[in-house]
Amino acid sequence: MHKALLLYFSGTGITRHFTSLIQEEMENRGYICDCLNIEELIDLTVLWQKKPVALNYTINAERKRPLSNYPWPYQDLKTALQNAEENKLFSHLEQEWAEYDLIGFGSPVYGFRPAPVMIRFILDLPVFKKTLRVFSYATHDGAQGDFEKFMEQVLRMKGFKYAGHIDQTFVYSASAVMRGNFDNLKAGRLLVKKSQQARRKINIFLDYVQTLFSGMPYWYHGESLINLFFGLPYRLIYSYGIDLLLNHFLFGFGIHKEKCIQCMTCVAQCPQGLIELDKYDYPIRLYHCMYCLRCLNWCPTDALYFSRVTNGKARFPGPEVLIEAAMQDDLSYRLKNE
Ligand SMILES: Cc1cc2nc3c(=O)[nH]c(=O)nc-3n(C[C@H](O)[C@H](O)[C@H](O)COP(=O)(O)O)c2cc1C
Ligand code: SF4
Ligand code: SF4
Repeated sequence: MHKALLLYFSGTGITRHFTSLIQEEMENRGYICDCLNIEELIDLTVLWQKKPVALNYTINAERKRPLSNYPWPYQDLKTALQNAEENKLFSHLEQEWAEYDLIGFGSPVYGFRPAPVMIRFILDLPVFKKTLRVFSYATHDGAQGDFEKFMEQVLRMKGFKYAGHIDQTFVYSASAVMRGNFDNLKAGRLLVKKSQQARRKINIFLDYVQTLFSGMPYWYHGESLINLFFGLPYRLIYSYGIDLLLNHFLFGFGIHKEKCIQCMTCVAQCPQGLIELDKYDYPIRLYHCMYCLRCLNWCPTDALYFSRVTNGKARFPGPEVLIEAAMQDDLSYRLKNE
């Protein structure tokens, strides 16, 4: 019996959902499969702030449209890779993870790469001396760009044996915060359909992994070629979009103080610890972040927005709510027709 560990980060909950699908399919095959949100393993805020790696969209936003006079000392990817070294807090992991036959690292795609907090997490790991088989997985909106290549590079750098990658698009959770309304039922139906598609992909990948364990030859092509072809238009939209559109119209931090009940949910939810309190104890963010959208989505009174584009717009309720909406609809349909 194989033992697997799935380590993930998730902003709006989609990667968490994908993780649970992988776990279910692994368990169906007799694996023992543990799941761990990396935020349960370590205080991400402290980890990331010590060496705050950022992707280009954040660095550009900070350079072009800073939110304060004190620019945050972000580390770009190249510098972060050059200065990667073991964080002593992770020294015990080599021994702890030795019990696993397979470890998956999952993240949403942000600007063609893994979320900066996941990058920080991997770069801070020790270099594993004992061979451990790992894979990467991602959720995205159609353009994962260099995500897989980057994951392969950093995971190999840490001494792991890289087995491959799975990815899936589910629902457009990120653009929800720019829409006038968000149809839970429609999105729920899409999520259910995409989850079935994801299960098929997971099983193709697990067939391949099985051959690695047994030493049988097998050709696993992933989806690199398809992504290259169909990903191109998205790639163009995202590369220009993120810098031009998002930088100018999305990125920022605004608050309707009259709506804020000072519950501190946003402060606690921020994986980068970038939301502070002003002198009246209202949340404020003085720097650009990775824009995971958690603060916006989880504010109970919709008091927060990034820019006017997100002001007064819909919020993403999370995959569980969408699935519930689709299931309720299915149930009432069946009751009506019985
Ligand atoms: C700041 C930001 C950048 C993103 N960049 C990309 C991207 O480059 N390519 C893409 O296909 N999707 C991109 N997305 C969409 C997310 O990858 C997608 O919504 C993902 O499923 C979210 O997963 P989560 O719910 O686990 O955070 C981006 C989303 C955000 C918030
Ligand atoms: S400020 Fe909000 S969007 Fe930015 S990283 Fe923190 S929780 Fe995510
Ligand atoms: S989550 Fe919303 S209501 Fe709570 S402190 Fe933050 S802005 Fe205010």
